Amino acid sequence: MKIAVLGTGMVGRALAGRLADLGHEVAVGTRDVADTLSSEEYASWQEGHPTVVLRPFREVGEFGDVVLNAVAGIHALAALEAVGAAALSGKVLLDLAIPLDLSAGLPPTLTTANTDSLGEQIQAAFPDALVVKSLHTVYYEVMIDPARVPGEHSIFVAGNDEAAKTMVSGILEQFGWPAGSIIDLGDITAARATEMYSRLFFALYGRLGSFDFNINVVRAGA
Ligand SMILES: NC(=O)c1ccc[n+]([C@@H]2O[C@H](COP(=O)([O-])OP(=O)(O)OC[C@H]3O[C@@H](n4cnc5c(N)ncnc54)[C@H](OP(=O)(O)O)[C@@H]3O)[C@@H](O)[C@H]2O)c1
Repeated sequence: MKIAVLGTGMVGRALAGRLADLGHEVAVGTRDVADTLSSEEYASWQEGHPTVVLRPFREVGEFGDVVLNAVAGIHALAALEAVGAAALSGKVLLDLAIPLDLSAGLPPTLTTANTDSLGEQIQAAFPDALVVKSLHTVYYEVMIDPARVPGEHSIFVAGNDEAAKTMVSGILEQFGWPAGSIIDLGDITAARATEMYSRLFFALYGRLGSFDFNINVVRAGA
């Protein structure tokens, strides 16, 4: 599958590398290719992942059959505007960004919550994209390798299109998430809950001193 990963940070790189290792054709999106390649961090990662191409946001959306949003939450809509509505039309858009405000340090607050979410804002701004919110409730290393956390633990999908959620669940399973660990929370408004979970996530990090954890939803009678 051709997959566009928006975002050159540690999350975008980890996802792009894992997807390439799984045999997908991967292009990473950025604002300015030359500027990104001038960063030692990105350039050395690129050397280790020669099959992954780096393209401007506006090109990468056209490349991908599926688009992953791994851009800083407060800049996600700007990055997606650069990709363009036409390139996103009819495509699955896996959004794993959290609308974090880190200006006052840790723990971060959210720039949107309660009655709205970034996932919904993205779906509203790009009505023809098939937005699925997922993966953002775990540390990026756990996203792509759930076995880092021993035992059974849960991951969520939310979105308005059933086929899009099935496709995203397939990607999650390729990462190693057992089908039974994937909980469908319903339509994209469930992104409010999973984005707000970041408050508990950072509280747990504050106590555990590690991001390598997850929660498991245990059902009575299951
Ligand atoms: N770290 C985790 O374990 C974790 C867990 C769950 C969710 N997430 C989410 O994953 C996402 C990525 O996190 P990250 O730490 O890898 O990266 P990040 O530093 O949050 O974001 C980096 C990306 O944001 C883009 N960006 C910055 N300013 C921009 C602007 N003004 N307009 C358009 N794009 C802009 C950058 O573009 P350039 O390439 O052009 O510089 C870069 O691609 C975030 O939304 C985060 O909340 C992270």
